[in-house]
Amino acid sequence: MDVEVVGRALSTLPDDDDHPYRTGAWRPQRTEWRADDLEVIGDLPEDLDGIYLRNTENPVHPAIGRYHPFEGDGMIHGVGFRNGEVFYRNRFVRTDAFEAEQEAGRSLWVGLAERPSKAQRTDGWGARGHLKDASSTDVVVHNGLVLSCFYECGDLYQLDPMTLEPRGKASWHGEFPSRAGVSAHPKVDEHTGEMLFFNYGRDEPYLHYGVVDQQDNLVHYVGVDLPGPRIPHDMAFTDNYAILNDLPLFWDPALMDAGVFVPGFHPELPTRLGVIPRRGAAEEIRWFEFEPTYVLHWTNAYELGDELIVEGFFQHSPVPEVPDGAGYHERMSRFISLDGMQTKLHRWRMNLVTGACSEEQLSDTISEFGMINAQFAGRQHRYSYAATGVPGRFLFDGLTKHDTATGAEEHFAFGDGVFGSETAMAPRLGASADVEDDGYLITLTTDLNNDTSECLVFDAAELTAGPVARITLPERISSGTHSTWAPGGDLPDW
Ligand SMILES: [Fe+2]
Repeated sequence: MDVEVVGRALSTLPDDDDHPYRTGAWRPQRTEWRADDLEVIGDLPEDLDGIYLRNTENPVHPAIGRYHPFEGDGMIHGVGFRNGEVFYRNRFVRTDAFEAEQEAGRSLWVGLAERPSKAQRTDGWGARGHLKDASSTDVVVHNGLVLSCFYECGDLYQLDPMTLEPRGKASWHGEFPSRAGVSAHPKVDEHTGEMLFFNYGRDEPYLHYGVVDQQDNLVHYVGVDLPGPRIPHDMAFTDNYAILNDLPLFWDPALMDAGVFVPGFHPELPTRLGVIPRRGAAEEIRWFEFEPTYVLHWTNAYELGDELIVEGFFQHSPVPEVPDGAGYHERMSRFISLDGMQTKLHRWRMNLVTGACSEEQLSDTISEFGMINAQFAGRQHRYSYAATGVPGRFLFDGLTKHDTATGAEEHFAFGDGVFGSETAMAPRLGASADVEDDGYLITLTTDLNNDTSECLVFDAAELTAGPVARITLPERISSGTHSTWAPGGDLPDW
């Protein structure tokens, strides 16, 4: 093993910090590592070829007022598998805000749970305005570069996939919508090389949808009229369509004018899914109505005959119950816990000829953060792989594999005190195009028992058999949200 510290951020967090999302499995890292030729416990598959990337939350300064776990500074971890060897890198995403706060030695912006008027800087980012773009939400790879992004719309920060060193911000040849930004969950279609994205905000038309091609040209960008400001988090696509949404959970308009952003659920309003041809004009969007809910993440969408089918996680409790007298930490934690939201795999169907809609629950299991074999994105898939959560906390205690053809599920529990990340599916090198689970599942753990982190590799067809290989990382990592898999063949200099 060849390990080197390559960077260390200034942190002013106190040693006796007691915030539940800056301690334990959320203890932030400040050190950046390069580690090559890592030791492997078990058998590392020789046909595993590419990089698993994960974004995590790593605050380095005490917050101004209340801290929310989704506003920590972004840090990307990369575990690369090549020629039977494993390497690891981690780097902070050097956002404009991170650099400014490193220089100042303190927080300059407020987070999601505070009034913007408390910020020391009057500028900022995000759909609500005045926020810090922490770039700590999602990570994708497009046109050979890692892109990290912020869930409430901001810049796309580019990183070198091999070193995770900064490569500036996406400009799209000067056409990047800097004022509106890009939301989390841009979607990369591996078959066309296109990246589909959206952004949202407080000004009409409240939503935009766009497409970036393989040469980083913004080739499509349209405004989508909504009844008012909405807070969409994800989108879906098929070979021919993009699927946007207008969900009945949105900021209270009256409070918003006073600078307070509290989502309210409106069960009297439908869930609306908007279907637009991938290069369609704004007036071509068609809306389909369903039972009211909020959906954080869609797993996939596809066309089947006249129907368009979307799968994702229906929230049976978009506004979780909170005990009387609960403080900020408990209330916040319940709002982001999977059992608080009661997230269950669900299928929505839209007939594009007749306009008929139907929907069905696919599973009783509470899970979220679903991933599929990306070769099947936009096309009919069978398997999805999702996280199960610790009750009352935003922490993943296991994995579940759902078979949409039979309804069968398999589970794997990480064990007491061990928490995983969003688990990506890595198709085996040379995998058959029609064997969807011919590959590996990859996740990073945070192990509080041993104060370590590991990268676990599972055979996707044998989840319950447990990991086939475990790789110990140089340092225990913090928790976070999203991840991705980049096949080596998609990366320059691989
Ligand atoms: Fe997300």
